[in-house]
Amino acid sequence: MLSPVDSLAPEWLVVPDDPNDLAAAVWPASASRGADGALEIAGVSATALAQTFGTPVLVLDEEEVRVRARAFRAAFDAAAADHGTTAQVYYAGKAFLCTAVARWVIEEGLRIDVCTGGELEVALAAGVAADRIGFHGNNKSVPELERAVEVGVGTIVVDSEIEIERLAAIVARTGARQCVLVRVISGVHAETHDFLATAHEDQKFGFPLVDAAAAVARIREIDGLEFAGLHCHIGSQIFGVAGFRESASRVLELLEALRETGPVPQLNLGGGFGIAYTRVDDPTPIETLAGEIVAAVAEGCAARGIEMPALSFEPGRAIVGTAGVTLYEVGTIKDVQLGSGAVRRYLSVDGGMSDNARPALYGAQFSARLASRLGIGEARLSRVVGKHCETGDIVVEHEYLPADAAPGDLLAVPATGAYCASLASNYNHVPRPPIVAVRDGRAQVIVRGETIADVLGRDVGIVPASDPVVR
Ligand code: LLP
Repeated sequence: MLSPVDSLAPEWLVVPDDPNDLAAAVWPASASRGADGALEIAGVSATALAQTFGTPVLVLDEEEVRVRARAFRAAFDAAAADHGTTAQVYYAGKAFLCTAVARWVIEEGLRIDVCTGGELEVALAAGVAADRIGFHGNNKSVPELERAVEVGVGTIVVDSEIEIERLAAIVARTGARQCVLVRVISGVHAETHDFLATAHEDQKFGFPLVDAAAAVARIREIDGLEFAGLHCHIGSQIFGVAGFRESASRVLELLEALRETGPVPQLNLGGGFGIAYTRVDDPTPIETLAGEIVAAVAEGCAARGIEMPALSFEPGRAIVGTAGVTLYEVGTIKDVQLGSGAVRRYLSVDGGMSDNARPALYGAQFSARLASRLGIGEARLSRVVGKHCETGDIVVEHEYLPADAAPGDLLAVPATGAYCASLASNYNHVPRPPIVAVRDGRAQVIVRGETIADVLGRDVGIVPASDPVVR
């Protein structure tokens, strides 16, 4: 049956031929429909997942993470070898970090980039060798830096003059030797949401190109610090390679100048590779990204007559993003009459901006499908919203869902592996959902869900129920 186009639908949203289909780019490769029509991920049915772990639950497809980590490593290895250099891939833990994921990516040959003391502790707790950890951040505290130096992280990406002096004091006091990269801002404004662009001028990260030489000169004076090279990250959820090319070219100019006064062995070009959240997103394949970005660096080096640096990259979202699917239960449904005469369907689920803040923060778009069964009949434009006391508590702003979606149905939102759990909150005292890894037909909790006791536990005015009440 052909479904009508809704007058409230944005232009980019396509009416699906089948509102139960699973668009390949948006779902993990293992996603399919079982004999009963329920969504299955890695051979585990959404119905069984919801029964066992409750809803909401974030399901993470382990093989999808591993395959993508392997693909990044293979693609950058091959591209670097083609141009006579090497490439390291760091998994950017800010996208989502727990000990299980840290182990998966390390087993696939990646390193890990952390940006706080907390992320550093997760990587260490996972048994990641400290020399495989890179430490970022625009405001690392003295204790964070001390801990990083003490455990021997491979690289610290320095972000400010103050940080250089903090590190100088630490290495002077401890006698340690620490390898550092200098983060620069190339002036390239990546074509992404303003909050996700990080290398234009008016923001908090790194050194402007014009100030970087002085920072490097200072580092080279300090005995315990080894200047290993430059770092530049232009932003996140970027499609195509134009921004990376331009940024690399500007940073190479600085690298060439710095080589006149000493070695600059490494260049880290950050992460930021985009993924598909809806079927209209068209991310560049990993092999193309790797090939074109490394070739751009090689061209720049050849034009300047300088040797290729050793390269590194820091993808986060592109490794875990499409591995995650959030399952919710549909609660209430309202057809809201608008002044224009149009009617918008609101489908409320049992989570929301506390487990996925991206729509509220960045106006991010997601997609959704019924997960417990196949819907019958035509597609109906719907807005999926959460249970929080806020109008902006939107999970999926625009999606065509089966018209017979009903309370009690399970709803799956794909591409929630990155920056959903890591940005989760307890807004409205809603406990954060469990994270369950699926692989080969089996499911295992990797981060347990919060209980209401966890959420209340920090309020010192609440006496635990098992304790006698003192009057
Ligand atoms: N390296 C650095 C220095 C970064 O700051 C980031 C991300 C990455 C690597 C990894 O970027 P990715 O490959 O994941 O795009 N919360 C936002 C994204 C913030 C990105 C922060 N930095 C979102 O949900 O879109």
